Amino acid sequence: TSPLRLGIAGIGTVGVGVIRIVQRHADLLAARCGRPIQITAVSARDRSRDRGVRLGEYAWEDDAVALARRDDVDVFVELIGGDDGPAKAAVEAAIAAGKDVVTANKALLAHHGQALAEAAEGAGGVLRFEAAVAGGIPCIKALTESLAGNEITRVMGVMNGTCNYILTRMESAGLTYDAVFQEASDLGYLEADPTLDVGGIDAGHKLALLASIAFGTKVDFGAVKLEGIERISIDDINRAADMGFRVKLLGVAQMTGRGLEARMQPCLVPAASPLGQLEGPMNMVVLEGDSVGQIVLRGAGAGEGPTASAVMSDVVEIARGQRLPTFGQPASGLATPRPAEANTP
Ligand code: NDP
Ligand code: HSE
Repeated sequence: TSPLRLGIAGIGTVGVGVIRIVQRHADLLAARCGRPIQITAVSARDRSRDRGVRLGEYAWEDDAVALARRDDVDVFVELIGGDDGPAKAAVEAAIAAGKDVVTANKALLAHHGQALAEAAEGAGGVLRFEAAVAGGIPCIKALTESLAGNEITRVMGVMNGTCNYILTRMESAGLTYDAVFQEASDLGYLEADPTLDVGGIDAGHKLALLASIAFGTKVDFGAVKLEGIERISIDDINRAADMGFRVKLLGVAQMTGRGLEARMQPCLVPAASPLGQLEGPMNMVVLEGDSVGQIVLRGAGAGEGPTASAVMSDVVEIARGQRLPTFGQPASGLATPRPAEANTP
């Protein structure tokens, strides 16, 4: 059987993780997919840098768009990042060339996912993005596969590990927001633009994607009501603790009489609840369906291994020939519900 050939654009934290899994688990993956998974070509900015993985056996492209168009690439794996620029150009080129695309890029998808998904459908390709929502937690496949027999009634969760680290550390160490923000920065948790984390924008991107899948609607980041954690003080946290609550940056999306309501904002949750007990830079996704009831998924929302694990789940799905569109049912099929409120950022 023919191998599934990957072109990987971006060999940073996640790209290296994907390469490590393909190299370490070649036999396991071939057995699970019924065909080998091969990397044929890679791309990054600096060819000379030692990235701690073997790259010599792969073709190198300086330009991600050129990688996306290579004849020996079946699946273009975009791990560059950014909601525009080279990531978008390369994904568009891959789709136009009839390739399947796997990406972890929640910012790109929150802004352009609907158009990209429709373009991929039109070109006969698939667009997969399990890693884009809550990193290693398989929440997209939980919705599209495991809970396929349910009408989803609500999705919610803590989807930004950095904010959860800041909020839990403020309480456990009695430190101010500014002190813990500095710690998070020193630990390398923050995005290059920290406003994406603490402003709730990164988590809002993820909620927009999860909601569109849960409710079969078009991706509508503009309809997510956003509020970050910048104004949460140690007094707020202590007062909540005195009453038996914790402060969480919580995303909630549900269908109401007024349409889809999606909010990402600081909330009080009971300290003894699963969400209340989530400590450190972790994520938790809660899914509710009419038959299954409530499901709670907890895990690492970031990092090399967890994020690469999710990327590989998409690669395996494509290798097995599962080709249904992920967004909507189909992406163009259902009306966009009225936004509940205007976006803030
Ligand atoms: P990194 O910054 O570690 O890596 C980005 C890579 O992209 C680098 O290898 C860089 O090259 C390369 N790159 C930058 N510009 C170009 C370009 N023009 N052409 C080709 N390659 C380019 O990012 P991450 O691995 O952390 O993140 C990748 C994606 O995964 C992002 O969308 C991110 O949001 C998402 N993600 C990341 C998570 C994480 O835990 N890190 C978790 C969930 C999602 P060079 O190395 O030469 O500079
Ligand atoms: N900055 C993000 C977080 C990375 O803290 O959760 C993973 O998307």
